[in-house]
Amino acid sequence: MTTETNPAVSSPPAHDADPMRDLLVRVRQLESQVAQLNDASRRSYFGFHHPIDAQEATYPPRFAPPIIVDGEPLPIPPASLRPGYAPDDDALYLKWGKFDHDFILGIVGRYLDIQQPLRVLDFGCSSGRVLRHFETERQSGGWRLHGVDAQAILIEWLRSFWPAAYDVCAANVVVPKLPFEDNYFDVIFGISVFTHIKYLWDGWLCELRRCLKPGGLCLQTVHCEGAWSLFARSDADWQINGVPDYVRQHREMDVDYLFFNKSTTSNTFYKRSVVEKMFGRYMPVREILDPPEFSFQDWVVMQKEGLRPELPADKLAPVLETPPETKASGGPDSVK
Ligand SMILES: C[S@@+](CC[C@H](N)C(=O)[O-])C[C@H]1O[C@@H](n2cnc3c(N)ncnc32)[C@H](O)[C@@H]1O
Repeated sequence: MTTETNPAVSSPPAHDADPMRDLLVRVRQLESQVAQLNDASRRSYFGFHHPIDAQEATYPPRFAPPIIVDGEPLPIPPASLRPGYAPDDDALYLKWGKFDHDFILGIVGRYLDIQQPLRVLDFGCSSGRVLRHFETERQSGGWRLHGVDAQAILIEWLRSFWPAAYDVCAANVVVPKLPFEDNYFDVIFGISVFTHIKYLWDGWLCELRRCLKPGGLCLQTVHCEGAWSLFARSDADWQINGVPDYVRQHREMDVDYLFFNKSTTSNTFYKRSVVEKMFGRYMPVREILDPPEFSFQDWVVMQKEGLRPELPADKLAPVLETPPETKASGGPDSVK
């Protein structure tokens, strides 16, 4: 298994002999092999639906019993199926997801009529950490809830334990294609998904645009300058291993964008002004919000062109027009 690094910093000159460094390189190679073996052992059981799985057998997964929490209408997934989000703390897992739900609802309410029965897609829904909190809107507002994720096992868990009204299915990470008709959704949101889309981010934006109704909202989180600095300075393994040496050596983001590592463990960073330009080519960027509580990711609020019949044009927020230089984080976009 290879890891993509900046060749300028990863290949020392041949004459520069250093046994410690050689040893370190060997340790890294061995760690990489262990990771590959772990990956392979997981995939042979149930994992990502990639074309490379074609020669492998897939058996039904064995799930630990779902966790039932008083007052929660839907079961919560076991720790192993909450990758990255409070696997060992049920209360925090719920609180965090509810916070993100409320934050999303707050944005949507500023652009669309949330009393209407909206069709919503959680793009990269994982095991429903955030989607679950839209149960109230589903029950009393008639919202139609959909989720897709590239990790089939997470979708399989949702299919096994949540009501069929949740329309969930596995997506691929190879071709930007979703199984929905044109102009279908009022809202598509994705938390920490474009932060990992190294390949075809533009194709994915086009695909999300295709699935949105005219005037529909696309809310996505991204890593911008603040996240770069965090990865550059912090000491957790996932942060150290999540970026190339270049980031650790340049604590302030000094490139327009950076895409790192293979598809399932990748991280992407964009300057905020670049998000406006690059994402804005595909859908007008209405605003970019500073990371809210619990997060170091900025929120990009895009809106597909075309008027929604139920909203007068003057209720739409203007497209972001402020020159990029004045939009440093902490500016008037801030939601803190
Ligand atoms: C960091 S997790 C965030 C999960 C979830 N959005 C949340 O906030 O709890 C990113 C998720 O996006 C999924 N993902 C990444 N690329 C995807 C793609 N192109 N299509 C669907 N899901 C994708 C991954 O499988 C993973 O579950």
